[in-house]
Amino acid sequence: MNQIHGPAQDTTLRLLSVAGEMYPFVKTGGLGDVVGSLPAVLAQHGIDTRTVLPGYPAVLRALSAHHETVRIDNVLGYAVTLREGRAHGRHLYVVDVPELYDRPGNPYLGPDGQPWADNGIRYAVLCRVAALIGAGELSDWKPDAVLSHDWHAGLVAAYLKYMPGPTPAVAHVIHNLAFQGLFPREMMGAFGLPDQAYDSGDVEFYGQIGFMKAALQVSHRLISVSPTYAEEIQTPEEGMGLDGILRARSNVLTGILNGIDLRDWNPLTDPAVFFPYAVGDLAARRANKRVFQAEFGLPQNPDALLLGMVSRLTTQKGADLLAALAPRLFEDNIQLAVVGTGDRDIMQAFMQLQARYPKNCICHLRYSETLGHRLHSAVDASLIPSRFEPCGLTQFHALRYGSVPIAARVGGLSDTIVDANSAAVMEGVANGILFAPTTEDTMLLAIRRAQALFRQKAVWARMQRNGALHDVSWETKGAHYARLLMDMTGRHPMAREAENAIAPRRGDPVSSPQNTTRPAARMPRGRNGEQASSILPFPRTGTRA
Ligand code: ADP
Ligand code: GLC
Repeated sequence: MNQIHGPAQDTTLRLLSVAGEMYPFVKTGGLGDVVGSLPAVLAQHGIDTRTVLPGYPAVLRALSAHHETVRIDNVLGYAVTLREGRAHGRHLYVVDVPELYDRPGNPYLGPDGQPWADNGIRYAVLCRVAALIGAGELSDWKPDAVLSHDWHAGLVAAYLKYMPGPTPAVAHVIHNLAFQGLFPREMMGAFGLPDQAYDSGDVEFYGQIGFMKAALQVSHRLISVSPTYAEEIQTPEEGMGLDGILRARSNVLTGILNGIDLRDWNPLTDPAVFFPYAVGDLAARRANKRVFQAEFGLPQNPDALLLGMVSRLTTQKGADLLAALAPRLFEDNIQLAVVGTGDRDIMQAFMQLQARYPKNCICHLRYSETLGHRLHSAVDASLIPSRFEPCGLTQFHALRYGSVPIAARVGGLSDTIVDANSAAVMEGVANGILFAPTTEDTMLLAIRRAQALFRQKAVWARMQRNGALHDVSWETKGAHYARLLMDMTGRHPMAREAENAIAPRRGDPVSSPQNTTRPAARMPRGRNGEQASSILPFPRTGTRA
């Protein structure tokens, strides 16, 4: 294969990232966002990242016509065409096996909403190809390190371990321990792993083969997507059966919070926002709320607390609790806008709420990147009542767009949000509202607390401004990743990282409305009208099976 020349020439570390999804090609949730944004972040630290992805139709479409191919004849019984090229600035290796990946819609689920029956072999082939690249299959590029994500890439470390010769070290990122990739023991032959891998416990998990288990057991480093989640998953309550191994490997487990791409999430340039505004400019948000209410058929009452939720509608996200609680909120004249898709029962419950309370509740039960952005530019508060949340990205979106997050005190939510308790309000440091445990009653109390603060205009505005100032960027988090990878491969952290310095605040400065050149407002295109944006090519569903 000829090398595709890019900015990788002077880099100090070659990194192979492996994942089941990547924004902007294929995304079912935050996993795709993170896999899609990390390469640019790591490039700032001299890391050349190339990502191995399955050859889903959307990925192949995005790959430019000018790509190189290499044939690998027999990967677990499949003929692989490996396509290398650049798309949307990302350097990709795409595993093209039409029998396995040429399927429309959600990458993991069939049209019946169930996981594809052959998901084991689909992601084993992905992992196997990644391991082959890691072991030097390509003549022109060999990675120094591998970054594998979630269960879909969980077998890479195990394949590498049982290959002869020197192989790169693997850091595995745990985005969500709830999805583990469990398959029957009888698949060992199909997965092409030696019996020893099972007998030694490397891939065995209670009599089955566990992709996530294998990654936790064999990888050199483990990264969870927030420091609190790193602690939580070491407990029996939150460890999903894997807490024992995580405790045993706690010396290599690090929690690094996610960030978001500030170019995608900039209310001044975001095409989804009706009245563009600078981060921290609260005046334009009032107009956005008014138009949003009109677009969604809600009464245009500026004093009604408008709550929003953009989420997979699943029990992890507490969407069932919100649906059950909603009638009690509507008694208080609260408005609720939901953009989400997921479990059938929960979607049904929201449809019923909308039919019963049309003046209070509007639901868009589908995946819409545009509405997912617009909502945070217009609502007063964004609800995130998760039962568990490894990191969560929607609180970052809310903070940046000036919507106050009301969230469960779990995982990455508690690492991001400063609760508006009386001390924090007095000190002027609060940026949201936290509640625990995750129940209807605690959520109700939190929302009532929000309502009371919302009436104190100055306090609420201070919370919004604090949120806008909060560093939601990848800047410092990227440096953590880089340091970990450099350390894992025996390299010295780069000088610019300034480990002991107080990091300058990143994220856009909060500009005053006076200094802001505000582009013309974009008016709605009628109820539910979508504007052109990088909308993803298929609907979200509720699971990452
Ligand atoms: P998770 O990955 O567990 O679903 P995150 O908060 O990490 O949760 O990331 C969810 C991502 O998916 C965010 O970028 C969010 O805006 C987006 N998202 C979720 N549901 C929808 C939807 N129905 N429409 C648009 N974006 C959505
Ligand atoms: C998972 C988690 C979510 C996290 C995302 C990206 O989907 O559920 O909390 O933000 O991965 O790391």
